[in-house]
Amino acid sequence: MCGIIAYIGKQKAVPILLEGLKQLEYRGYDSAGISVIQNEKIITLKAVGKVVELQNKIGAQDFLGKIGIAHTRWATHGKPSDRNSHPHGDCESNIFLVHNGIIENYQDLKKILQKKKHKFVSETDSEVLAHLIEEFNKKPASTRGDASSTRGGLDFKKSVLEALKLVRGTYGLAIINKNEPDKIIIARNGSPLILGIGKDEFIVASDASAIVRHTDKVIYLDDGEMAQISADGFEISNIKNKIVSKEISKLNWTLEESKKGGFPHFMLKEIFEQPEVIANGLRGRVEHFLSEDNFPILGGLRPIEKKLRRIKKIIIVACGTSYYSGLVGEYMLEEYAGIPTEVEYASEFRYRKPILDSSTAVVAISQSGETADTLAAIREAKNKGALTLGIVNVVGSTIARETDAGTHTLSGPEIGVASTKAFTTQLVVLVLWTLMLGRQRDMSSVMSKRIAQELKNMPKLIEGILKKSKEIKKIAKKYSYAKDFLYLGRKYNFPIALEGALKIKEISYVHAEGYATGEMKHGPIALIEENFPSIFICPKDSVYEKNISGMQEIKARGGKIIAIATTGDKEIARIADDVIYIPKTLEMLTPFISVIPLQLFAYYFGVAKGYDVDKPRNLAKSVTVE
Ligand code: G6P
Repeated sequence: MCGIIAYIGKQKAVPILLEGLKQLEYRGYDSAGISVIQNEKIITLKAVGKVVELQNKIGAQDFLGKIGIAHTRWATHGKPSDRNSHPHGDCESNIFLVHNGIIENYQDLKKILQKKKHKFVSETDSEVLAHLIEEFNKKPASTRGDASSTRGGLDFKKSVLEALKLVRGTYGLAIINKNEPDKIIIARNGSPLILGIGKDEFIVASDASAIVRHTDKVIYLDDGEMAQISADGFEISNIKNKIVSKEISKLNWTLEESKKGGFPHFMLKEIFEQPEVIANGLRGRVEHFLSEDNFPILGGLRPIEKKLRRIKKIIIVACGTSYYSGLVGEYMLEEYAGIPTEVEYASEFRYRKPILDSSTAVVAISQSGETADTLAAIREAKNKGALTLGIVNVVGSTIARETDAGTHTLSGPEIGVASTKAFTTQLVVLVLWTLMLGRQRDMSSVMSKRIAQELKNMPKLIEGILKKSKEIKKIAKKYSYAKDFLYLGRKYNFPIALEGALKIKEISYVHAEGYATGEMKHGPIALIEENFPSIFICPKDSVYEKNISGMQEIKARGGKIIAIATTGDKEIARIADDVIYIPKTLEMLTPFISVIPLQLFAYYFGVAKGYDVDKPRNLAKSVTVE
């Protein structure tokens, strides 16, 4: 995810900014850039790749400027390139800014600004903000002889305020202006921003890790707040330009802790990030399905819209956790879009003789976009003339580039090796694709709206489950004796049983098997003996009764049962030894919420055993070899 750092004070800004960028590296990024005010000019340098590339570009140049902003970019709009890297400037190179977040109405704003003769150099949503501020800040038409300008001439802060009033979306912003070279303006809406208060200096960052080594005194900006910072002091106001008085907090995290946002492990941080990243994945997308738009189409699929209408079969190829999200996708796409769908391990697909033609879409699902098997499968499919699509997290990754079209999952970098938030954001895209492909076929707009509306609830429902983490931790401890687990579920929750078993296997090194409940009697039941634990995913859905029968069969043989059940289900509490309740939702969306207790269960189980859950033995985050 993108990172912001800004400095104003008595020291040279560039070394401090570069060091700050390095602290933000762990978040993952694909390019970096820096702007510094010096000799009444703004000097901007950018580089694709690591911060060290930027450092090499700077080389021996000694910049004396004491005010600057810098950014690590994780591409969302536009591929990683110097042009698309931040800081972004206006037409006159007076105003430069770094931005985290997404400006949803940037296309509309861009069109308006282009009519006013603004020239854009990047494909990003962020650049629009620099031009918008310029529009308010530039001298009035009468003094500039510029007939296109009707307003303007506001001071820097007011220009930012006016610009932000027109913006829809999220932002964490740090902005500098050559014409008011003694200040930085920062603003927040939905993207974190922290103001670090040092001795005669201020450091702003999107993340405490870039601040801790300078100061432990910080102010956390809230949504709708902005600050004007000079070397002597700062003033915080809200978007209505009313001064706000804020409490100074003490940072008591070490550098390592701050990178984890105060969580003991990245895995736990990423589990807890799910409401936020799911909301990110929905923003600006789900609205299509709620509006009166007849046949909504997602941006990344627009160029192939016609081809998608002709698709008669879908084959999903993926590995690991991504494969399991594909299995959930299979149920959705067949039930609601009416398209025959197969899911295949990418490593197998490439060695089979798949029957493909131009009416088949082969979809690669991959967090990293670099998994060698998935990439090879996509290349094979391409060679055979199939349409290739990607559901990928990392923008600019090989799979994202080599597929014909696709949708990014926008979950931000996932650092814990065991995948969590990547999985649920893949599900988001699969639901959106189901709606889109369904609407191109038989799905009614009433049905698509109903699903889209409930999909919007997922962040809230997940938040509710995360609040039960202590209860789940207790249950995980209770079963710490277990050397084997059986995970069982049916229909939409069969893939979740597989994913739950994979999670605990990955980080706790215990043997676990995921099975379709109905298949349990054909083999795994032989394993059941006194105290053998089975985890049943058993919400009140169309296969509830069948799950209960399976549960009884295990109970009769002395096995222990942990049930993931729907709130209010009292019957299950009579059979199961432990119950974790999840709220009611549409059957097809239950995987979003049933997987959360299983992620937490695996996490606490692994931690209780004393393992390094972020870096499990023998596993790699991205497997780029066959
Ligand atoms: C590795 C990781 C898994 C991941 C799988 C697929 O095995 O350890 O967590 O699910 O690769 O990775 P991808 O990046 O293609 O989703």
